[in-house]
Amino acid sequence: MPEPVSVELIFPEPILMDETHQLKVPDRPIIPYIEGDGIGQDIWPAARIVFDAAVKSVFGSKKKVEWLEVTAGEKGFARTGEWLSDETLNIIKRHRVAIKGPLATPVGKGMRSLNVRIRQQLDLYTCIRPIRYYPPVPSPVCHPERVDMVVFRENTEDLYAGIEWDSGSWEATKLLGLLKSELNCDLPASSSIGIKPMSPEKTKRLVIRAFEYAFENNRKSVTLMHKGNIMKFTEGGFRKWGYEAAFERFGDRVITEETLFERYEGILPDGLVVIKDRIADMVFAEVLLRPENFDIIACPNLNGDYISDALAAQVGGLGIAPGANIGDECAVFEATHGTAPDIAGKDMANPCSLILSGAMMFDHMGWHKAGDAIREGVTKALAAGKVTRDLASMISGGEEVTCSRFSRIIVEQILFTH
Ligand code: NAI
Repeated sequence: MPEPVSVELIFPEPILMDETHQLKVPDRPIIPYIEGDGIGQDIWPAARIVFDAAVKSVFGSKKKVEWLEVTAGEKGFARTGEWLSDETLNIIKRHRVAIKGPLATPVGKGMRSLNVRIRQQLDLYTCIRPIRYYPPVPSPVCHPERVDMVVFRENTEDLYAGIEWDSGSWEATKLLGLLKSELNCDLPASSSIGIKPMSPEKTKRLVIRAFEYAFENNRKSVTLMHKGNIMKFTEGGFRKWGYEAAFERFGDRVITEETLFERYEGILPDGLVVIKDRIADMVFAEVLLRPENFDIIACPNLNGDYISDALAAQVGGLGIAPGANIGDECAVFEATHGTAPDIAGKDMANPCSLILSGAMMFDHMGWHKAGDAIREGVTKALAAGKVTRDLASMISGGEEVTCSRFSRIIVEQILFTH
């Protein structure tokens, strides 16, 4: 048997995609990254050493990531005069997979969120947020270990479509006039107006992804979370189209709750997934009281924004929860928290969210062993109790370490295990 060629001798290449949208990942893939604003400067270097250590420890000299920096946010503006350039978006599009730290959005200055723009311009229509508990992270609930859910949030429409006009603007006044004269809706003339578009095709593609994930990962149920009792045609549409998508695409591999109880006495046979739906406000209560009843939650954009952060808080906070934004053409993995300007540059931030987002990225690339090694390393490092400031004071016997030291502890755990 000839010796395998060391990856150092292979040219780095972009990840490709075939006509069926399957990724073709070379052994030395080029992966673009955006460091991010604020604590991006702390968490990106911390995360990167963990990623490199995980790949090296499980694949040896056979695989290696070639990181390619692309800029956005403050660094992008300083370099190119643009907060988010077409060049950055095109590079991400061409390379199929990218990872990013948080980007700042000034409030009320008329600038649209860069994160929302990235998701919309790359049509990253599925936001995936897995939420599970990592002991001994402090949690406000008695049984955080019962939480093991994955939120699939629609990422491109709903009130986030960015169609809104200020009170008194020409556009708002025009629309208010039209609503009154054409549709007999008499609203206060001073109203600001926002539009909430929700379509069958964009709902269906999201729900299909949620079910694909459920089948691939042996999950039991997909809950459609909506506010269709009040917003009949938008949120109610999400519910209706969600059921349609599930049965149209997956046929008798999907069953309703009624069928589960009538035909199977509440015991789910292997290979099937239950579809159910719940009103959004009830979901917030139920995930606290009976979290074990939820597995995958599929929801429109705004509900998804709220529930994913609430669930992250339930298991100990945003510093831990990872996230992915996935479309048909490319995917961007990202820390779910913001830029934390209060601790930026102080080597104090918790890098777990970005690190665990990287684990999701490796799963997406088919490098599951690297993803598993990262999750295992984080689990063991947290259990050892040497943690960043946000957690240290709340863990009994916890010892505070810097962001960079914490990531080295994760690396040590990975190298020790593999
Ligand atoms: P934030 O998440 O930046 O901070 C909220 C609180 O959590 C702060 O006390 C902060 O110190 C703490 N925190 C956040 N991440 C942490 C970490 N990894 N380790 C330790 N502590 C952490 O939220 P905020 O203050 O509302 O937003 C700040 C900026 O971030 C805004 O410009 C906002 O638009 C942006 N943002 C960006 C996001 C993204 O890029 N995906 C998501 C959320 C906010």
